[in-house]
Amino acid sequence: ALVTSKEMFAKALKSDHAVGAFNVNNMEIIQGIVDAAKIENAPLILQVSAGARKYAKPTYLVKLVEAAIEDSGLDIVLHLDHGEDFEICKKCVDDGFTSVMIDGSKHSFEDNIALTKQVVEYAHAKGVVVEAELGKLAGIEDNIKVDARSATFTDPDEAAEFVERTGVDSLAISIGTSHGAYKFKGDPYLDFERLQKISSLIPNTPLVLHGASTVLPEFVALCNQYGGNIPGAQGVPEDMIRTAAKYGVCKVNIDTDLRLAMTAEIRRIFMENPAEFDPRKYLGPARDAIQKMVQHKIKNVLGASNQR
Ligand code: G3H
Ligand code: 13P
Ligand code: NA
Ligand code: ZN
Repeated sequence: ALVTSKEMFAKALKSDHAVGAFNVNNMEIIQGIVDAAKIENAPLILQVSAGARKYAKPTYLVKLVEAAIEDSGLDIVLHLDHGEDFEICKKCVDDGFTSVMIDGSKHSFEDNIALTKQVVEYAHAKGVVVEAELGKLAGIEDNIKVDARSATFTDPDEAAEFVERTGVDSLAISIGTSHGAYKFKGDPYLDFERLQKISSLIPNTPLVLHGASTVLPEFVALCNQYGGNIPGAQGVPEDMIRTAAKYGVCKVNIDTDLRLAMTAEIRRIFMENPAEFDPRKYLGPARDAIQKMVQHKIKNVLGASNQR
């Protein structure tokens, strides 16, 4: 059934695993992820960005997720990723999403609280849960110096006040991750001390890690080997995700790793079979590559196998 993340997060809070939240844009991506979650018997969040809604047209992704639930028999959360205003959150609640993110991280603390409260009030009245964000993720080109961290990373005391005043269900935090395939220029660094401080102050609030792709080297290598050009791509090391899952992170957001798995496989097929032009012959293997990657992620990185 289509469910909220309440039970999944309650379970994840008490154990060392985290729930994977995967961004979806089309049928093959959804199928690859859902088949993996079914085989691994894992909890699952499928998330849709504003860009994904625009690309697929809003109704398609909702219907595809409904089809995935019917086909798999799994409980799945349908979540809005990075809702930027009240309107898109309201639209998704009305469209049947069971979870929405209001991303007010670019606003002032007080404005973020006011906006988040407005979404929480609307969503909770309809049984929908809300994720908010406090602190700013680094941009791809930002090289955050140590003394600038406190300006962008989530302040633990503010996080506690924010959760208390908004009644939000989960909180995305900034501890050093960033979106995309270029997360670190030098050695990877996450502020685990800060994470532990946050989870000690709000131990009952599930924390969310955005920008949590590991940027699997095998896919980067395949892309580059088969005509791509993505040099120096680097993600969050797998063991850092495992550590975060132990310290209160209950939801781990993954989009880039799906994009890389899909692209690597399609590039390989195009280069090795130039005469092939049946889309099923490359989208099918791309779907299989996603499934394999997501199984690995669930099992070895999120520790979420058999945690349904
Ligand atoms: O946080 C960003 C996600 O990777 C979604 O990306 O807005 O291009 O769909 P998108
Ligand atoms: P990645 O770019 O690391 O996959 O992060 C995705 C994300 O945070 C979606 O909200
Ligand atoms: Na956990
Ligand atoms: Zn994100």
